[in-house]
Amino acid sequence: MNKRINVAVIFGGKSGEHEVSLMSATSVIKAIDKKKYNVLPLGITKEGSWMIYNGPIEKIESGEWEVAAKKQLEQNPNNNILSIMPLGGKKSKLAELVDVVFPVLHGPFGEDGTIQGLLEMADIPYVGAGVLASAVGMDKVYTKQIFKQAGLPVGKYIVIMRKDFRENKETAIRLVEENFQYPIFLKPANLGSSVGISKAHNREELIKGLEMAAKHDRKMLVETFINGREIECAVLGNDDPKASVAGEILPSHEFYDYNAKYFDDGNSKIVIPANIPKEKELEIREMAVKAYTAIDCSGLARADFFLEKETMKIYINEVNTMPGFTKYSMYPLLWKETGLSYDQLIDQLIGLAIERYENR
Ligand SMILES: Nc1ncnc2c1ncn2[C@@H]1O[C@H](COP(=O)(O)OP(=O)(O)O)[C@@H](O)[C@H]1O
Ligand SMILES: [Mg+2]
Repeated sequence: MNKRINVAVIFGGKSGEHEVSLMSATSVIKAIDKKKYNVLPLGITKEGSWMIYNGPIEKIESGEWEVAAKKQLEQNPNNNILSIMPLGGKKSKLAELVDVVFPVLHGPFGEDGTIQGLLEMADIPYVGAGVLASAVGMDKVYTKQIFKQAGLPVGKYIVIMRKDFRENKETAIRLVEENFQYPIFLKPANLGSSVGISKAHNREELIKGLEMAAKHDRKMLVETFINGREIECAVLGNDDPKASVAGEILPSHEFYDYNAKYFDDGNSKIVIPANIPKEKELEIREMAVKAYTAIDCSGLARADFFLEKETMKIYINEVNTMPGFTKYSMYPLLWKETGLSYDQLIDQLIGLAIERYENR
């Protein structure tokens, strides 16, 4: 029998999407084929502390894993397998124990190229996009610039720096009001899961929204409101990426905010395949692969679009290089409909990680 592959599943992390990561990682760990893979769960606390966790998987989602992991660490303080850098020509402790890492982390310090860079330096293969694509995909401003350059349709936007906003609110507000009509969208440039995002219908909400976005990032985005259906497409692969069927999000709230995404009464709905004209679906699938290639992505990404209701024009909104990954998340469900089960998807992603490492 072949040797089982050792996979470290990293979860948690310092971002506002810590809890989302706990949910995604729980699903991944449960579904991973234990005949083929050994799983080493590695948690990162919100403070950024790394810990090995050997307890029941059920305790990850609730956050109880932290207590158990801390206890283990106290009992065995010299258990230094988390030492990650190669030393004196030798592999790092982690690389000795682990064949591949699956960083199931969303948002900054996880989906943004930082952990990817760390794993490159540590010389360990990892699932998902590399440093550049992760960093670009996390920054909504750079993503849009690259999409525009690639000829992908992007909605109108401007960038406001926190410093400028705080120093001169009047000028910032004038700039926005000269360029846009309400309602508008306000976003921190680097985040996800709708954290810090708001829709402003008037000046008062604009100020509040910019203040909120400024809490999360020094760079903020103001976007024109697109009255569209939200269509998403999954992409998988390295040099020859493939797009899944398209799916639609029907948000329960005014827009797909954090509560609608994760703590909903179950009223937000995912419709797969999206009930849109065939030619629109094909166009979206093509654009999804184009966007993926434009940011030099590998492994996986979910590309998100708006299909404008009135004009049927497609706009690309963003790419997520580590999209929500529970069994009920859009990304795996899109592949399921396209013919790839959740377990097969995990298997392919690990395979792609190793392939990319070997083809460096
Ligand atoms: N320009 C826009 N027009 C209309 N709705 C938007 C716009 N930008 C964002 N939204 C709504 O806000 C949600 C979150 O914004 P998004 O840019 O996708 O950020 P995140 O990275 O947090 O998912 C979207 O799913 C959509 O419902
Ligand atoms: Mg989004």
